[in-house]
Amino acid sequence: MLLEGRTALISGAARGIGRAIAVRLAREGAQVGLLDIDPAIEDTAAEVRGLGRGACAVNCDISVSAKVEAAVARITAQLGPVDVLVNNAGIVNNIAPIEKMSDDAWQRELGVNLTGAFNLVRALAPAMAARGFGRIVNISSVAARGGLSRQVGYSATKAGLLGLTHTAALEYARRGVTCNAVLPGMVETENVRAMPQAIRDQALAHTPVRRFGEPEEVAALVAFLCGAEAGYITGAEIDISGGGHLNTLVLGSRREAAGP
Ligand SMILES: NC(=O)c1ccc[n+]([C@@H]2O[C@H](COP(=O)([O-])OP(=O)(O)OC[C@H]3O[C@@H](n4cnc5c(N)ncnc54)[C@H](O)[C@@H]3O)[C@@H](O)[C@H]2O)c1
Repeated sequence: MLLEGRTALISGAARGIGRAIAVRLAREGAQVGLLDIDPAIEDTAAEVRGLGRGACAVNCDISVSAKVEAAVARITAQLGPVDVLVNNAGIVNNIAPIEKMSDDAWQRELGVNLTGAFNLVRALAPAMAARGFGRIVNISSVAARGGLSRQVGYSATKAGLLGLTHTAALEYARRGVTCNAVLPGMVETENVRAMPQAIRDQALAHTPVRRFGEPEEVAALVAFLCGAEAGYITGAEIDISGGGHLNTLVLGSRREAAGP
């Protein structure tokens, strides 16, 4: 097991990728602190306890630094110091063209996707550094690099997470704390399954492996990055997108063009 005796904190763990990460880290031996605004966070905690690991679920809006500090204090009091932070919580469905994006929608997305991750890094990294071990994984997106039409806040905040990742990696590198970014393409979560079939088909056509990822596949990558053996990986941006980050333009002969 990769995380025997470790304590992990995962934001946005009530469902989707965050829940899969929480369960995987627990299977790897970690006890887990769980943050979400959705009361279903208690279901994830129950699943983790069913695996024989400790869990502490806190309803917390990560965009508010005082709430993050209070939640961290509660989790630390119950589970002990946190060794692993996974910044997973995010708003993924704020959709409008730039000229129709309201101030409130833009600010909310910045607050959750970027400030929320910053709040958690600031609350947890110093204690990790003081103990000489820490792992931080920020869940970004392929949209960080390529943009995403009608989701400017999403794309900008996911790109901002890369800057946070690089800087945290630099500031804590000599004190045993790594910080990496994971950039998923389309992953079969509740949100993605609910998309209209025409949009799913279009996304599939841009995914060289011709399938979407599973939350458990993202969770497996995160688990590896959180283990002791990943100590030489820091400041990395790791795509998990079925090749979706690649250029799929074909300039060769049409006769050979079975793919991509
Ligand atoms: N599903 C995909 O295809 C995909 C692709 C690329 C990146 N991602 C990223 O992966 C992460 C998880 O995605 P998902 O598809 O599982 O999303 P999801 O919407 O299913 O889950 C996100 C969770 O974050 C929680 N959350 C939202 N605002 C919060 C706040 N202010 N404080 C605390 N928790 C809050 C939600 O309640 C929810 O449980 C997100 O950061 C998303 O951007 C997902």
